[in-house]
Amino acid sequence: MLTNKTIVLGITGGIAAYKAADIASKLTQAGARVEVIMTESATKFIIPLTLRNITGRAVVTDMFELASEFSVEHVALADAADVVAIAPATANTIASLAAGIADDMLGCIVLATRAPIVVAPSMDVNMFENPITQENLSKLKARGFTIVDPAYGRMASGKVGLGRLAETETIIGTIKQMLGRNGDLAGKRITVTAGGTQEPIDPVRHIGNRSSGKMGYAVAEAARDRGAAVSLITTPTCLPEPVGVEVIHVQTVSEMREAVIKATARADALIMAAAVADYKPKSVAKAKIKKDSPSLTLELVRTPDILAEVKGNFIKVGFAAESEDTIDNARRKLQEKQLDLIVANDITSPDSGFGVDTNKVTLIDRDGKVESLPLLTKREVADKILDRVVEFLAKKPPLQRIEFSLWPPSSTERYKRINIPEDVRHLFPEDKVPFLIETDIGTFSVCVKRHENTPSHIHLRRTNWFKAHPELKAGDKVAIEVIEPMKKYRLKVGI
Ligand code: PMT
Repeated sequence: MLTNKTIVLGITGGIAAYKAADIASKLTQAGARVEVIMTESATKFIIPLTLRNITGRAVVTDMFELASEFSVEHVALADAADVVAIAPATANTIASLAAGIADDMLGCIVLATRAPIVVAPSMDVNMFENPITQENLSKLKARGFTIVDPAYGRMASGKVGLGRLAETETIIGTIKQMLGRNGDLAGKRITVTAGGTQEPIDPVRHIGNRSSGKMGYAVAEAARDRGAAVSLITTPTCLPEPVGVEVIHVQTVSEMREAVIKATARADALIMAAAVADYKPKSVAKAKIKKDSPSLTLELVRTPDILAEVKGNFIKVGFAAESEDTIDNARRKLQEKQLDLIVANDITSPDSGFGVDTNKVTLIDRDGKVESLPLLTKREVADKILDRVVEFLAKKPPLQRIEFSLWPPSSTERYKRINIPEDVRHLFPEDKVPFLIETDIGTFSVCVKRHENTPSHIHLRRTNWFKAHPELKAGDKVAIEVIEPMKKYRLKVGI
């Protein structure tokens, strides 16, 4: 996704300036055109020639020197930028940007560009925590800059705290997220599961499997890079958390089930790449099981099938890890679990399936279309799956959706409810006729009820849902989507 993108990389004068060489190198290797601008003090920490050799482009260090094609017309560089990233950004540069000062090339470009701006601060912990720096960062955030928070650790001064430049992967991940913000999944919410569930046997042992999480993480990152808001439900893995993705940590099938139900209450698609245990120990030993008998029998019981169970108005994608009759078995799972798409995964080949970076899959969809893909990287497989999700989403008829404000608008009222205005009253059943409402904490049976004090409105009876959302204030917006008129609805927050 970085191919042929222009990234303006601003480097300012801090000890972490040398790390900008790594950022420039990785961006260039990924196909981006990297235009480096160094402040004068940055050139004291790392020489421009290093950046020039890494990027193969002239490095701008002085606004008045004809060092590059952009030197005179800095506006051209500001226009050419797909993203402007400043890494490291010193306290001084942050203050200067917050004040709108344009006394060097970097300041001019930041003011002139319409591209998203990423700022990765790096400085001494006290400087970072100083209220002036924090206020300047807040100002930038309020103006739409994306701040990549510094990492915690040891600094050049010997102090330990927040202030180290974020990891290269984190900064590049944020740049990718910015590039993809208008992608074909912009505005969509995608839930992805990854890794292998772990079912405890005793306090130190569990039943697990060989899933590394790579496939699911690749799907999550690819969806993020195409503009989706991604919730990644993951078991413990050795992989770094993807930037710009909501990561929900789980261990067991039951924890994953709960997280999937919650996340899909607002999702447009669910992609279950996780390898989920089909059985778990009937009971978990409280103390570590001793090896004092020659054999040990564990009684196992079935776990819930999350993918089969979870339902709603979202695109459902499953994986099928198969070692024989791959296509037939995958077709059966597609039907049994009522999926839109299944990714049949051949796990017999050493370069496909568990643990490796590549995968060989066949995509089978609900209309019977079968597409066998060659051996690809997991990221490429992820994009192929998402291509199909985009197609399905385009075909999905939009749900009838009604937006409400929580009532009453006064924040002093303790209880909130949802009033249904008269003009959409016909979309709901008669008073006292129960209907189902899906929420992020489960599905409730509720009724429409008249309220004496609001004769022109009808309100939904209060449910535990309100108690589960103490953050909601009266007047906040919520939406109800009609899944099945008169029978089933979905309640959404954060619209
Ligand atoms: O993580 P990696 O090392 O990159 O490996 C990738 C992978 C091989 C784990 C992945 O690509 C894969 O194939 N995942 C699905 C593995 C699996 O559990 O397949 P299954 O055939 O047992 O299950 C079918 C589908 O139902 C899966 O989407 C699974 O998430 C889901 N399921 C299964 C059992 C269960 N109790 N609940 C479920 O939701």
